[in-house]
Amino acid sequence: MGASVRWSWFTALLCLLCMGCEVQCDCTEEGVHIQGGHYTLSKKLEKGSQLVYRCPEGYYPYPHLRHLCQPGGKWEPTPRRHQKCRLVECPDPNVLQNGNVSPPLQKYFVTNETTYECHAGYTLRGSSSRTCLPNGKWSGSTPICSRDFGDTCADPGIPAGCSRTGNTFGIGDKVKYTCNGNLFLVGSSERVCQENGQWTGQEPACYYKHTYDTATEVSEAFGSAIKHTLNILQPTDDMQEGRIIRMSTNGTLNIYIAVDISHSISTENLQRARDGVITLIEKISSFMVSPNYEIIFFSSNVYEIVNILDFIDGNITLASIINNLKKLDTTDKATGSNLNLAFRTMKERMVMIKHRVGAEAFKEHRHVLVCFTDGSYNMGGNPMPTVDRIKNLVYMDHTDTSKEEYLDIYIFGIGVETSDENLQSLTTGTRGRHYFRIKDASILSSTFEEIIDDSEVSGLCGLYKDYETTGDKISKRKRYPWVAFVSVTDAQRQSFLRCFGSLVSPHFVLTAAHCFHLGNILPEHVTVEIEDGHGSGVKKVKTFTLHPEFNVKAKVSQGVDEFYDYDVALVQLQEAVNISTVARPICIPCTQETSDALKLSGLSTCAQQEELLLKNHCERLSFLTKMDTLV
Ligand SMILES: *[C@@H]1O[C@H](CO)[C@@H](O)[C@H](O)[C@H]1NC(C)=O
Ligand SMILES: *[C@@H]1O[C@H](CO)[C@@H](O)[C@H](O)[C@H]1NC(C)=O
Ligand SMILES: *[C@@H]1O[C@H](CO)[C@@H](O)[C@H](O)[C@H]1NC(C)=O
Ligand SMILES: *[C@@H]1O[C@H](CO)[C@@H](O)[C@H](O)[C@H]1NC(C)=O
Repeated sequence: MGASVRWSWFTALLCLLCMGCEVQCDCTEEGVHIQGGHYTLSKKLEKGSQLVYRCPEGYYPYPHLRHLCQPGGKWEPTPRRHQKCRLVECPDPNVLQNGNVSPPLQKYFVTNETTYECHAGYTLRGSSSRTCLPNGKWSGSTPICSRDFGDTCADPGIPAGCSRTGNTFGIGDKVKYTCNGNLFLVGSSERVCQENGQWTGQEPACYYKHTYDTATEVSEAFGSAIKHTLNILQPTDDMQEGRIIRMSTNGTLNIYIAVDISHSISTENLQRARDGVITLIEKISSFMVSPNYEIIFFSSNVYEIVNILDFIDGNITLASIINNLKKLDTTDKATGSNLNLAFRTMKERMVMIKHRVGAEAFKEHRHVLVCFTDGSYNMGGNPMPTVDRIKNLVYMDHTDTSKEEYLDIYIFGIGVETSDENLQSLTTGTRGRHYFRIKDASILSSTFEEIIDDSEVSGLCGLYKDYETTGDKISKRKRYPWVAFVSVTDAQRQSFLRCFGSLVSPHFVLTAAHCFHLGNILPEHVTVEIEDGHGSGVKKVKTFTLHPEFNVKAKVSQGVDEFYDYDVALVQLQEAVNISTVARPICIPCTQETSDALKLSGLSTCAQQEELLLKNHCERLSFLTKMDTLV
């Protein structure tokens, strides 16, 4: 202790002496080492630099995760001499009622395995064995030993590390959860048994400060919630003989994204958070919903990337936002973190929207706030009163119980050290978890990439995965999911022609008319091959239509032996192709789907599409062969 105390006195003195002169008061590496791990510095030893401790998998830095270099050359919080990497611990599983946990240990560490057995007369639901994982959680699901007493709701169990009050499970019965020791609760602390036999809310979990959600957990929980919101607003498509009748839906979705860029979030994390935002927006745009976006980055100030009012005015494209995000310079000088200001900004935008569209229309607006922060807000005060004002504003015009559907506040705590409870209390919304605790921002992009699985968004054209570059069949299909092979044999089954085609809807394939010139072709002479992952992929054909003006011999008299204008044909399949990541329609010009795919916001015209797609005289084309990928 003595040495480091003396050293910091010395630095402080040096700083005092230097006040007014140009000498920088840097932090020092004295006394910041960690046993069993290492640390990284975001800006060397300059003020505002962040020192982050790193430990091997299965370990976490203790007692501190990081330090911030203060203007006076002092690390905050003050480094401890016994900083080390500790083995990850999982919450105590010995909370099981009516059963046994083995082995019975004082503490359970990463890789420890446990098994669960119920007393006679009780049956086990959930996992019968669980392993303590490196993120501080048990694998599988909460084991529950229950006996059927004819209750309306099933025994909701007791998650590891938890205590529960409430032991009857009839309609209206309540159970309450608290976490033991220094654990804190994530999820519903109270659940009520409903008439339909379901508990309200979601199962809570007890987290240590070193417990994190994995990418899979986040994408499942956040993904299902956000998908629900998008689906509410997604126009329903009525398929009739391949024609899509779009029903208009009433309602507007406003998405507000706030990203903490104070130096309390490291530069590398910040870029990842930004990439995560880009992925999120791109994913949402694959739904036929065109939300309005407000995107801000904040530290002690707010930096507005896009103003939602410009979006509502329709003079901003999604593509331009993504460009702005990519260009964003993230070397911010300010070091404070004003979370309240971020919420106030979002609230002000809402007030302006309401003013702009009127109270009646504002009722139909849904608001989704997504905030990325490490929770170390140190200025601007507690954001809670602002969140309450946001709730008042949104709920004001709703008298029914569904009002909470109109506002979701999600918070992604990134490497949060101290304020989980505070951050969690800012979240709101009905469906699923709204607070996520992630180790660092590196998982955000892949998390958001996974949350909306393309196979679920079936109405979309032109979606493909260009990053799929392994040579196998599936990966090739993911890159060119609309490719079809059309085979035509003549009536005598002597000649045979194969053409490429493109899927344009689940029932139709567009191909070349000359593929049918063998003569006397009937639908049963035609097959279409699309490897959609079900069976052989060979589809039967219901009918086909050639362009009425297609005629190879049309210009023979003018010396043109073969004339290939109007060389198009449409093939109708007997059964719809299963739309998925490996089989998806290509976009047809001048359709709304194409506008969506091009990220032209709202209703766009043919001319806008043309301008975007054919802006150059030369366009790069890719050609596909049946033999291999592309030439
Ligand atoms: C629990 O895990 C710790 C650390 O991996 C290990 O040292 C200990 O032997 C394990 N205990 C049991 C009973 O498996
Ligand atoms: C949307 O709702 C408003 C008010 O509820 C109604 O006046 C309007 O006609 C609706 N628009 C559509 C397209 O359904
Ligand atoms: C949107 O419109 C406003 C007012 O007409 C204008 O000031 C602003 O620059 C426009 N934004 C874009 C991106 O065109
Ligand atoms: C389409 O996919 C579903 C679910 O994967 C499957 O049950 C169904 O049989 C598939 N249909 C065809 C025509 O392959």
